[in-house]
Amino acid sequence: MKLPPFALDRFLDGREDATYNLAGSVCNQRTVADILALEPDQHDALLALALDYQPYSGRVSLREEIVKTYANHIGFENVLITVGAQEGMFALFNVLLEQGDHIVVQTPCYQLLNQIAVSIGCHVDEWAMNDDVTWDLNRLEQLVTSKTRLIVINSPHNPTGAHFSHDEFNAIVDIARQHDCFLLSDEVYRGLEHAVADLLPSAAEVYERAISVSDMSKTYGMAGTRVAWLVSQDTALLHHVLKFKDYMTITGSAVGQFLSEIAIRNRDTLITENRNLLNTNIEHFKAFAVRQQVRVFINMPNASTTTLIRFTEITDVEAFALKAFETHSILISPGNKFGAYPQWARVGFGGQTFKPSLDKFERYLEHN
Ligand SMILES: Cc1ncc(COP(=O)(O)O)c(C=O)c1O
Repeated sequence: MKLPPFALDRFLDGREDATYNLAGSVCNQRTVADILALEPDQHDALLALALDYQPYSGRVSLREEIVKTYANHIGFENVLITVGAQEGMFALFNVLLEQGDHIVVQTPCYQLLNQIAVSIGCHVDEWAMNDDVTWDLNRLEQLVTSKTRLIVINSPHNPTGAHFSHDEFNAIVDIARQHDCFLLSDEVYRGLEHAVADLLPSAAEVYERAISVSDMSKTYGMAGTRVAWLVSQDTALLHHVLKFKDYMTITGSAVGQFLSEIAIRNRDTLITENRNLLNTNIEHFKAFAVRQQVRVFINMPNASTTTLIRFTEITDVEAFALKAFETHSILISPGNKFGAYPQWARVGFGGQTFKPSLDKFERYLEHN
């Protein structure tokens, strides 16, 4: 399989240390000290941790903690630890899809979600966003047929920060069920709904052919652990993924899994802090949107850490972004890294330093 460059990562590479970084999607990045402070008695256990290979499906105690975060139908055997959501989904697409298969993908999207299928030679239909950052369920019904092998969704959504309502989510599951197709639900931002009531069930809890994906990167701010997991009621499918994964990373990191387990045990504390940070940052963002409405249009997100903003006058946002980085160390992600959105940019508001970065960006915007 031949893969084109991963456009967003190639853009960010070498620019991650920008002083005013609005390009990221992680929420409230944590340190090892932050995590050990949640359970100080784990300090000695971390120092004594054997830096060995881990169990192939992930540390038993970590999988047990993960199971507690799901409501129904999810047991220990339904959880497979992977090295990032990236690895889990790469393996999944490879075991699930063959050349010529039909799949439907919600777009715009994180490139992995459609690219692997394209490169395998699948027939990929895009379930494209409307101008008002919604997705039309009637359109999804038209796209999915008895030949569809897989539907791919992502909610809370990267890059827009949009999130399906309970009714929309149920309708999507119904469409998948009616056509007996697999449903891949990328839930790496799950838990970062700005209002608690907007938390949706995990697709794997409610549909027997769903595969849900979560990770430590976004919701927990622990991307450096490279811990993620696939969850599915279809244990045979997870076993196929496991066999594929043997050719990739063999097992995940001992330290990453150890720290992830502590964080998940203290999930309520961490997620409450993260949600508070997002709600504070979103207020700054709203004020910015009002002040700058002549220059940018922002459809305020109701979940997650990022949104797409549309520039009213700048047409080549990538050139604008490159200049902002080179001259002022301001980093935004050009919209063309997510599809045909040359006049848009993704702005991340999940960081502790969002306000000063946004202020700097605002001054730059006013003068360029
Ligand atoms: C929607 C989405 N899925 C998956 C990933 C990959 O995440 P991970 O760090 O777990 O590999 C990202 C990372 O940006 C993402 O935005």
